[in-house]
Amino acid sequence: MLDAVLRRGETLDQAAGAATSGLPTSSDVALARAIASEAFRWLVDFDRLIDSATRQRLADDAKVRMVLRLMLAQWLRLETPPHAVVATALALLAGGPRRLAHGVFGSLVRQPATLPAVPSLPEAVARRWGARAGDIAAGLAEPPPLDLTLRDRDATADWTERLDGISLAPGHVRVNRGAAVADLPGFADGAWWVQDLAASLPARLLGEGNGRRVLDLCAAPGGKALQLAAAGWKVTAVDASNRRLDRLRGNLERTGLAAEIVVADALEWEPPTSFDAILLDAPCTATGTARRHPEVLHRVGPRQIAEMADLQARLLQRAAAWLSPHGRLVYAVCSLEPEEGEGQIHQLALAVDPLDPSELPSGLSPSPQGWLQTEPGMLRDQGGLDGFFIARFHHA
Ligand SMILES: C[S@@+](CC[C@H](N)C(=O)[O-])C[C@H]1O[C@@H](n2cnc3c(N)ncnc32)[C@H](O)[C@@H]1O
Repeated sequence: MLDAVLRRGETLDQAAGAATSGLPTSSDVALARAIASEAFRWLVDFDRLIDSATRQRLADDAKVRMVLRLMLAQWLRLETPPHAVVATALALLAGGPRRLAHGVFGSLVRQPATLPAVPSLPEAVARRWGARAGDIAAGLAEPPPLDLTLRDRDATADWTERLDGISLAPGHVRVNRGAAVADLPGFADGAWWVQDLAASLPARLLGEGNGRRVLDLCAAPGGKALQLAAAGWKVTAVDASNRRLDRLRGNLERTGLAAEIVVADALEWEPPTSFDAILLDAPCTATGTARRHPEVLHRVGPRQIAEMADLQARLLQRAAAWLSPHGRLVYAVCSLEPEEGEGQIHQLALAVDPLDPSELPSGLSPSPQGWLQTEPGMLRDQGGLDGFFIARFHHA
């Protein structure tokens, strides 16, 4: 997994599929993923520790460095006893520098080495985020809790109690991470779906549908389409990926909600009529999801940011042309990069419809211009949230 992400630029999801296919049980797969995930979350700090214990610097892609990163992730993050780490990890270096790995790991265990409270960011990311970097990093130290969005927001108090969670907004319940989703009460009857609190904000900002028509552009896997359907909108959900839309189909069936599904490339598709509301949750670099996908910070750089920003501008321009005269359009990306958020606003022929603080969970506030940028370090004492840029527009 480390190889596939760092050398080939794959996502951890893609890498994990191939790398864990031979493992016998789902808990083995989960453990392998957790080790890789923590290795990425603390990669910069693990590398510093490794470098402090070697006389000659190991190459970035040396196998022994990869294995040492996994060893440190198990010992320092997953609390695996050092002898168990050694027993399993050294086998990965059969015929290779086992002694070196054993020696470096042993000397770090003897110190004993420790991690800082907040993970260090890759240098390029710290430079890119500038003054915001420290606050954001503070939200990246732990994997996130599990957020659920309820089909029936009037039942928030009931479900918060039944799920033994907390609620930070109507229709939202947060439970401790590690819960097995399918075993939680309400899963089988479709009373809720998994969705980060930040990811639930864009659809909320379109309000109640009362039978009006909404276009959910780039809709798969469909958390926002479900929210819109539950809020009384007549939903047209468009996405280029039929495979990802299968998740939406499954969730519609589970929740008993309805949406028209269109498999199409939004850069070519033309709707038959305009829409009362449009939600464009555009493809993006996803750097705002670094809590759950820590590898993203080691995979995404200026090239990917520029490519995504260009695609977003084209999608946004097309979507804006399909908005009815009194309609509202919400643009969202799960990114922390200004080029994908704020940078998109100025190119658009629509006006910002400013967000009001009363529309947002307490503790979050819109920018003076009326849009919202959430960051993983926000609401930290309640478990944090993903980084999202969200802006609402109407015709000027
Ligand atoms: C951020 S995800 C959307 C998440 C979704 N709104 C949700 O709430 O679950 C972006 C989606 O855009 C889709 N996509 C990317 N390029 C597209 C295009 N040119 N036309 C249509 N969909 C596209 C991807 O397949 C992906 O599902």
